[in-house]
Amino acid sequence: MKSSKLDDAMLKPTLGLWDATAISIGAIIGAGIFVVTGIGAGLAGSALAISMVIAAVIALFTALSFAELTTWQPKEGSIYEYAYSLISPLAGFLAGWMWILSNIFGGAAVSLGFAYYLKEIFPAIQPNITAAILCIAFTLLNFLGIRESAFVNNILVIAKIAVLTFFIIFGLTYINPANFTPFEPLKIEVLSAAFYIFFAYGGFARVAVIAEEVKNAKRNVPKAILFSLAISTALYILVGVVALGLVGKLGLEGSRSPLADAIGVTGNVAAIYLVSVGGLLATATVLLTSILGVSRIVYAMARREDLPQVLGNLHSKYKTPYFSVFMVGGIMTLLALFIDLSQVIAISTFALLFYYSLANVSALRLKIKKRVYPRFVPVLGFTSCLTLLIFTLFVSPQSWIAGVSGLFLGIICYFIKENLLKE
Ligand code: ALA
Repeated sequence: MKSSKLDDAMLKPTLGLWDATAISIGAIIGAGIFVVTGIGAGLAGSALAISMVIAAVIALFTALSFAELTTWQPKEGSIYEYAYSLISPLAGFLAGWMWILSNIFGGAAVSLGFAYYLKEIFPAIQPNITAAILCIAFTLLNFLGIRESAFVNNILVIAKIAVLTFFIIFGLTYINPANFTPFEPLKIEVLSAAFYIFFAYGGFARVAVIAEEVKNAKRNVPKAILFSLAISTALYILVGVVALGLVGKLGLEGSRSPLADAIGVTGNVAAIYLVSVGGLLATATVLLTSILGVSRIVYAMARREDLPQVLGNLHSKYKTPYFSVFMVGGIMTLLALFIDLSQVIAISTFALLFYYSLANVSALRLKIKKRVYPRFVPVLGFTSCLTLLIFTLFVSPQSWIAGVSGLFLGIICYFIKENLLKE
């Protein structure tokens, strides 16, 4: 690493295994399960749970690659650092760039998702303004410190898991077995549904980005990645089965609040409100951990002078990279004021698949005597991410164009930085 005055400014390891796991669960369970379930059910029908399992297996290969990398060297900035040192500086820059792109757009999208859920309860609110206020509030929280952010995240994560558990247990007694027929797990739409549902698993590696702020990181970070994915997968499959059993494919497809609609069949108004509140909590934690994650990637890039060094400065009292936090929060707030939800989900997923692919390549190139997982794991991870990336071309060509444009912009910025800004 280039030496810089920022090397002395260390982040503090303050988070334990539960905090670390909760950060990744906070990033995973969000708009995906609360909204995309409707799209998935529309495609896969009664085989929705099979699509959820396929998406989980694809996520697992990449999660194991992240676990391998973080066991080797837990590093703030995660995939940016790994791609930089294991592939090339350009690959590192582009991994960081696409990470920022994915999560700034994704964060703005979920803040709007939050606002739409809130509008269900309070119809008078203006979604874009509400989303912007939420971005500002979580930016301030992230400024105050990672312990404070983790504390709020822990509470929200427990609450959203409780809501999903309630959904499963309460909904189970109202299931109509007829909703599971016809059961057609082999039709191609089951794969298309898996593509959409993959979005719901994104975020399992969020904790890797803040690895230097986790105690005993070599042990706790890989564990947190795998625990968070296991817990989310179990919840998703059960929620998927119950939702389908409650209202069937026709009751879920096309809905923007499929879980609230599904529980509505019980006729219990309190249950509908509770599930809607679950949607609010879930989108809030994804936003909170997005600002946290992006600010740390920006910090790591500034530390290597890949972005202006001022973005790597830590606040003397709160020990947070406050310039990064305010820049990231500011851009998200502006986006939340002006964008439309559907425009940004696809570009976010494209960028996500791009840096997940680089994570698998990095894990494959790792030259250590004793690997935790065999080499075929990153090979399968890379192949499956690449397949989904190619699949995007058919499912959503406009997201390909937007994603590739973002990538080219990154390449241009890299060459300007390398050739014009250096004496
Ligand atoms: N996995 C995150 C969500 O579902 C992105 O909102």
